[in-house]
Order: sequence, then C-alpha cells, then structure tokens
Amino acid sequence: MAEKKIVRITSDVPGPKSRQLYSEMEQNVPRGTAHMTPIAVSSAKGATLTDVDGNTFIDFAGGIGVLNVGHRPDEVVKAIKEQADKYLHACWHVTIYEPYIRLANKLNTITPGQFPKKTILLNSGAEAAENAIKIAKYHTKRYGILSFLEGFHGRTAAAMSLTGQIQPYKYNFGPPIPWVYHLPFAYCYRCPFGQTYPGCELACAKYVEKVFEGVISPDAVAALVVEPVQGEGGFIVPPKEFLPEIYKTCKERGILFIDDEIQTGIARTGKMFAIEHSSIEPELVLIAKSVGGGTVLSAVTGKAEIMDTPHVGGLGGTYGGHPLSCVAGLAALDLVEKDNLIARANTIGDKIKQAFLAMQEKYPIIGDVRGLGAMVAMELVKDRATKEPASKESALVREKCYQNGLIVIGAGIHHNVIRTLIPLVITDEELEEGLSILDEALRSTPIQ
Ligand SMILES: Cc1ncc(COP(=O)(O)O)c(C=O)c1O
Repeated sequence: MAEKKIVRITSDVPGPKSRQLYSEMEQNVPRGTAHMTPIAVSSAKGATLTDVDGNTFIDFAGGIGVLNVGHRPDEVVKAIKEQADKYLHACWHVTIYEPYIRLANKLNTITPGQFPKKTILLNSGAEAAENAIKIAKYHTKRYGILSFLEGFHGRTAAAMSLTGQIQPYKYNFGPPIPWVYHLPFAYCYRCPFGQTYPGCELACAKYVEKVFEGVISPDAVAALVVEPVQGEGGFIVPPKEFLPEIYKTCKERGILFIDDEIQTGIARTGKMFAIEHSSIEPELVLIAKSVGGGTVLSAVTGKAEIMDTPHVGGLGGTYGGHPLSCVAGLAALDLVEKDNLIARANTIGDKIKQAFLAMQEKYPIIGDVRGLGAMVAMELVKDRATKEPASKESALVREKCYQNGLIVIGAGIHHNVIRTLIPLVITDEELEEGLSILDEALRSTPIQ
C-alpha cells in the first residue's frame, strides 16, 4: 500500500450532489448515453479527478483513452488560453489558419509510412472512420469494406456498420451500410475456431480467402479497417503474425489498409502508434482521443495521392480542426516527446501487467491477463475451464473500486473485461494505490 494516500472519500459514493445531478440528468438527457460511474466531476488534474461532493479518485479510465497526457496539462491549458485570446472559430472552409497546418504537418511526420502524407482534421473518432471510408471508396472505385468481429469504430452510420458488436452499438438501429463484411479477429483466449496458437496456423487470418471465394470478390473491396489491439472488444492483442498476414492479403489484392489507432495511438501501447510494433505501413491511419490532449479532435492521415483523390468540397465540416483543438493537439504531442511518455507507457504497462498477473495467482476469477504497453486488461470468468464470462462480477468489482476512490472501466463483448487507460503521467504512488484498491475489490467479490 502506498504511504501517502491520494484518494480522499468524504461521503458515500455517489454523494448527495452527484445524486442530485444524476436525477436532473435522467429528466433531461436520453438514457441511451451510458454512464460507467454515478459521479459528477468537478475538477481534474493529472491522473486524479474530484467530484462535486469533494471526493478525489484515481483515474484508470482517462476519459476512455483521451487523456494519455493527463487531465489539464499546464502546457495544453496555456495553449488553449492563448488561442482563445486570438480567435475561436473562423471555419477552415472560410479562412485557413496556421495551427491546423502545423498539426497536419506533425501528424504527417509522426505516422508510420515512408511516403508523402496528408491529413484532414475532424472532430470525433467516428467521423474519422466515416471519412476514411469515403476516401478509400473514392480512390479505389471499389465499394466493399472488410472489418472485424468485436471491433469498434464508432456510432455513426458507416462507423456503426464497421463495428463488429451488436450490443449495444447496432441493436435495433436498422440495416448497416451495404457491402461491409466482418472477419474473425485473433481473439486467442476465445478462439473462434476452437484452436490454440501457434498450432492454429492463423486460421483466423486465412479465413478471408473463404470470404473472397463466397461473399465478395477481392477486386470489389476498397479497404480493410482494423484496430491493432481491439479496444472496446476487450483489449484483444493478436499474435505478432496476424496483422502482417492480413496486410499481405491487402497488398496482394490492392485493398487499402486502414489502421484505426483511435484508442491505441499517441504512446498508449509503448509506441506512438500500435501498428509500429510491426513493419506495416498503413495507407490510412485513424487518429482521435488522446491526440487532442482532452479537446475534441480527430484526423485521417494517409498517403498523399490517396488523400488527394476526392474533389474539392467533398471532405470537411464546419468544425473539423477547430483552432482550440489544434493548439491543444500540438501541445499534447510536444508533451509526449518532451516527457518521453512512450517510455513511461512501457514502464507503467509492465507494472500493471505484473500486478494483474500477481492478482491472477490469488483470484481464480481472473481468466486472462493481456495487453500491449500501457493498454492492459484482465478478463473475468466464473470458471477458468469453461471460461463462462463473469459479467455481473466485473460490474461489482468496478462499483467497489469507485466507492473506494478508483475509477476503472470495463470492455468486451461480454462486459467482463476490466481495462486500464491510465493517464501516462500517473505517479508511481497513484498507480500503486489504484492497483491496491482494485486488488481489494477483487478479493472481496465472490463468484456468483
Ligand atoms: C478504436 C476506436 N475507433 C473509433 C472510436 C469512435 O470514436 P468516437 O467515440 O470519438 O466517435 C472509438 C471510441 O472508443 C475507438 O475506440
């Protein structure tokens, strides 16, 4: 246990002010926008967050992967304030502005691929996915898209169609966009083919040939979209040969490789982008979340000749590349370099993994521990032999955590994965204290 306590719980959680705001929320906001903790934030800094009742929590969720540089870094706040004193909005389509160009140049430089690149800036991850699909179709004059089961790419029409999870994302929302086909991902803990790696010889990666034989001709496929580590799907890390095998298939068939780095990017996995753990050079990269340092920002960065195919006016939007987000993004990317957050991701990732493995030795409920860099998760099961998902128990563990001052969120198609998207600026003391709260929550949660 850490010597100095960071967590400060002054009332029952949720406290009276949070409860009041929750009841007002229920009257004013549709229930479809889910909430993982019943508290309302009042302020946040680094890796801690204080609620409206004065309780301070350690934050293992980082705004779902948006806060790799932490809550409100001084440099990001300063850049936003300085920009706010100049102009807030001019609209990129009316007058161009320098911060957009500087950020596009930065993203063109730091993304993998030894070829000229261009970047369009947008607002959300889903909007990046939508634009990448439009660009890929326009460029290839093909209209099929391949994506993966358990994958997640957003909630708008095309992004939802790419997503490989019915609940909660697609259920009852009507037909997907046409010609999207889902492939099996390398979810080795629950192999879709009932096999074991490496004896499986990557049956999942080879399945695409069956799809080409019976579902869609490869020369009708514009692009394949993949998360290098599936995020919402449950932090599923494929074996090292999986992505290169898929990439080879794309290269051989003229299919563009779209790398969704929205959750994995900006140092999270111990590289600036997770795809750099391989030698793949994706034609298009989707970037969002932590690139904005806590502001609203996303991007598609890709091969210049591909990015340049759509006609003038075919891409963009009123707010894409908002000046406040651009300056925040530039400051956040500077911080990743200045504070060497890539190395920090590896250091804290190792610590989390070791702690999770030690917990797995003590608690039979932990079926699997997996991750890449600081993107680490545990999958909870009722029985290690049957792997029956321990979904209720997972919710209970997370509830105990926030009641004791740790915000931690779930993932996975069975909602039985506990994941960490910890701000990379977390101190060792905060990390230790957070892990001990999680340990205690697991210890006191029986399998039901
Ligand atoms: C891999 C991935 N792609 C796309 C998205 C969608 O991003 P947004 O919620 O900003 O639309 C997410 C969000 O969690 C994501 O994790």
